[in-house]
Amino acid sequence: MAQIKPRKKFVKNPITGTKFTIAVSSAKGGVGKSTFATNLALALKKNGCKVGLLDADIYGPSLPKLLSINEKPKSEEGKLIPLIKYNIQCMSIGFLTEEQTPMIWRGPMVTSAIKTFTQKVSWKDLDFIIVDMPPGTGDTQLTFSQEISLDGVIIISTPQEIALQDVKRGIRMFDKLGTKIIGLVDNMSHFIGDDGKKYNIFGSGGVEKTAKEFEKEFLGNIPINPEVGRQGDNGMPIVESMPDHDISKIYINLAEKIKNKYL
Ligand SMILES: Nc1ncnc2c1ncn2[C@@H]1O[C@H](COP(=O)(O)OP(=O)(O)O)[C@@H](O)[C@H]1O
Ligand SMILES: [Mg+2]
Repeated sequence: MAQIKPRKKFVKNPITGTKFTIAVSSAKGGVGKSTFATNLALALKKNGCKVGLLDADIYGPSLPKLLSINEKPKSEEGKLIPLIKYNIQCMSIGFLTEEQTPMIWRGPMVTSAIKTFTQKVSWKDLDFIIVDMPPGTGDTQLTFSQEISLDGVIIISTPQEIALQDVKRGIRMFDKLGTKIIGLVDNMSHFIGDDGKKYNIFGSGGVEKTAKEFEKEFLGNIPINPEVGRQGDNGMPIVESMPDHDISKIYINLAEKIKNKYL
């Protein structure tokens, strides 16, 4: 966990151009944060909200692939103009670099990139910006909580013990930073086979139990479904490409819940 310095008084610069900024986080990689963040953004849009999507994963940006964006953003009056895809305002470090270029940056450069994306992007008239966080409890999470301000964070996990350990670390960090945890989501909670049977591939119930243990809201389960990965790989996430799919309905209901908490 990056060091938290409680004595230093930070001046917060919330993102302008949006009513609320909500982060999707998990201390672990590969649990489905980016997939969740993009589908949640699209699901909020389907609930009538104006939405932006900020890819804060500087080392491993996912937005260009997940939304099939190959353009470079233009700048105007010293600010980057978000790229619009599926009616969502999007920004990612991946729009500014070549796909195959590895990002070898030091901590302070990451912090400075995050500040650029939150202060030097002309986000416009949004209800929500959804921030897709990198894995871990590091500089990006700290910068957002201490120097930018988040209205809430959703924590994603799979029900596997090893992922839950990291989730607990994430919960403690956000609690310590005073960032509101909206709730926990159990992603890839189970798999329904062609035989109609339910398979608990990563175990079951652990995320809900962790939510209870830390007195956080449990926001629900999203099963493993190969269509989720396939649609993401095709650059049109499932909520956009198959809005009537059972999984899309879960995202859309969850987005309605989030919307009702804020708007
Ligand atoms: N509910 C799901 N069902 C099936 N595959 C999923 C689901 N959620 C995520 N995935 C897949 O898991 C992998 C990791 O997801 P990703 O969103 O990139 O995770 P993270 O951002 O946490 O590293 C991707 O291949 C994605 O398609
Ligand atoms: Mg990711």
